[in-house]
Amino acid sequence: MTKRTHSCGILRKSDIGQSVSLAGWVNAYRDHGGVAFVDLRDRTGITQVVFHPDHAQAHEVGRALRNEDVVSITGTVRGREEGKTNPKMPTGDIEIVVTAAELINKSDPPPFTPGQRDVVSEDTRLKYRYLDIRRKEMTEALVTRHRITKIMRDYCDEHGFLEIETPILYKSTPEGAREFLVPSRLHAGSFYALPQSPQLFKQVLMVGGLERYMQIARCFRDEDLRADRQPEFTQLDLEMSFVDIDDVITLITGLITRLWKEVLNVELPEIPRMCYAEAMGRFGIDRPDTRYGLELKNVSAWANATDATVFKAAVEAGGAVNLIAVPGGGTSLTRKALDALTEEAKKFGARGLAYLKLGGEAGAGKMSGPVAKFISDEKQAELRALAGASDGDVLLFCADKLDICHRVLGELRQKIARDLKIIPEGKWNFLWVVKFPSFDYDAQTQRHIAKHHPFTAPMDEDVHLLDSDPTRVHAKAYDIVLNGIEIGGGSIRIHQKDVQSKVFGLLGISPEDAQKKFAFLLDALRFGAPPHGGIALGLDRLVMLMLNRQSIRDVIAFPKTQSGTDMMTEAPSPVTPGQLVDLSIASIVPKKE
Ligand code: AMO
Ligand code: AMP
Repeated sequence: MTKRTHSCGILRKSDIGQSVSLAGWVNAYRDHGGVAFVDLRDRTGITQVVFHPDHAQAHEVGRALRNEDVVSITGTVRGREEGKTNPKMPTGDIEIVVTAAELINKSDPPPFTPGQRDVVSEDTRLKYRYLDIRRKEMTEALVTRHRITKIMRDYCDEHGFLEIETPILYKSTPEGAREFLVPSRLHAGSFYALPQSPQLFKQVLMVGGLERYMQIARCFRDEDLRADRQPEFTQLDLEMSFVDIDDVITLITGLITRLWKEVLNVELPEIPRMCYAEAMGRFGIDRPDTRYGLELKNVSAWANATDATVFKAAVEAGGAVNLIAVPGGGTSLTRKALDALTEEAKKFGARGLAYLKLGGEAGAGKMSGPVAKFISDEKQAELRALAGASDGDVLLFCADKLDICHRVLGELRQKIARDLKIIPEGKWNFLWVVKFPSFDYDAQTQRHIAKHHPFTAPMDEDVHLLDSDPTRVHAKAYDIVLNGIEIGGGSIRIHQKDVQSKVFGLLGISPEDAQKKFAFLLDALRFGAPPHGGIALGLDRLVMLMLNRQSIRDVIAFPKTQSGTDMMTEAPSPVTPGQLVDLSIASIVPKKE
């Protein structure tokens, strides 16, 4: 094989006349009156190479080339003829007249070609992932992903962080999602767990006095999968000592600003902050997409003064009435669309979805809908003012417990925005969400549940409420949200053993259980733990959003499908009875014939 002088994406007009050697894959081939034209591809791009019968040896090789053959060529760069240039290709002004060629490896006809325009099914792409990775979009995603992690590492290095690896074989300490277990051969009946995150190791590193830790860390969570969730995913994980909320937010804002500038050439404005309570009140969700309006309004006081029993009953029971105004909904929300929204609302726990149409069939200045007759003219006028709505708009109501109103309308808001295509393109709406409550209360199990995780510190001014009124305690936690997707979250941690024990108690983790699961952490907190905190950014989600891709699978080299399988290696797979015996494991799944 002749040594390469150039890669396939870089030759330009200024190289005309040069003798060059390239190697790559056949992206496409065509024959024009005995002259063979081949698009030669490597990861940097494509160059057109020409096999002319004048160069008999090369022509012989060139004519026989087919898609995905690997070939090396030597030739001379020349300008393309008038009218034959291709302004869409960076190398579109030139071509190479091949003087010598070598077929390095013949390819079988591939199930799809990286150059083909029509899309093959994702399963096929994943099964033949190496072919898929040759596609421009995939190559570009992996190149950009590399640049992003490189900038992250450089940035962290400049800020005094040490990159430290933490174990993958870890201890089972359920902290939210379901874990993956790994049986131990040497300790029959015992298991390792794969880490959901390096959370406790990074805290222990702070107790170890390293002050600043970072890792591009793999995390494992056995959750139901979605477009932005994988069972194994990657975080930029970091932790710092002697810091408070603002230090972490400033550091990460600086990193995000640098990434957008260097990768996308976008100058980001300052990232605003919003309290959790405001996010829930205005958007019904703790990761609001602020690219569009359709904000929620709490109209409980107004609703309670109408004659609509659905509304009054909810308020009297201690709940609320919230609405969303859909501008122009009188036309865009057909009867069918409203029925579909009602069904959707019920999926999220609503008992119904009352609506009012302003104007339209009811006449100018009037309202129609199932509850209209229970609302006096005076109350209707008040409502228009409250909702900022006018004829042509539709108001959608949820009357229920406040958290149900938020969940239902928060979800409907997103669905309506998608369905009516009102989400503007090309916007980067970042948001820091702060002042989360520390705990949710689950009435069913009568237990508090940590909103972030059990190691998050309460706000100093709320510590005294831990005993008396835990649900009013706010956490030193923060999330960073981009266009309605949570791209990262973190907190300042508890660094005193007594506070940690108290929080475990609140969460219903008994002292014995805490000792069994977290003895190492409680021990570490006894021996001079510095105040510390950190964050983890979801790398896959970040890359997906930066590249405007629909799924994190499109920015991961070897992702799993929605059902958690790896189409290429066919994992997970059964193992032999011998392996199970070695591991002292018995499988209770009935054998399939
Ligand atoms: P958290 O659980 O919020 O925090 O995770 C941090 C970020 O990781 C991303 N992420 C995921 N990405 C893809 N697939 C998944 N299944 C998945 N789950 C989470 C999200 C999320 O914001 N130890 C804490 C961080 C800390 O407190 O420092 C943690 O893991 O973008
Ligand atoms: P009903 O009184 O059950 O016939 O409902 C009258 C209208 O109010 C229907 O459009 C229902 O979908 C709607 N509705 C019922 N319960 C609720 C609720 N809790 N919140 C909002 N709308 C509701």
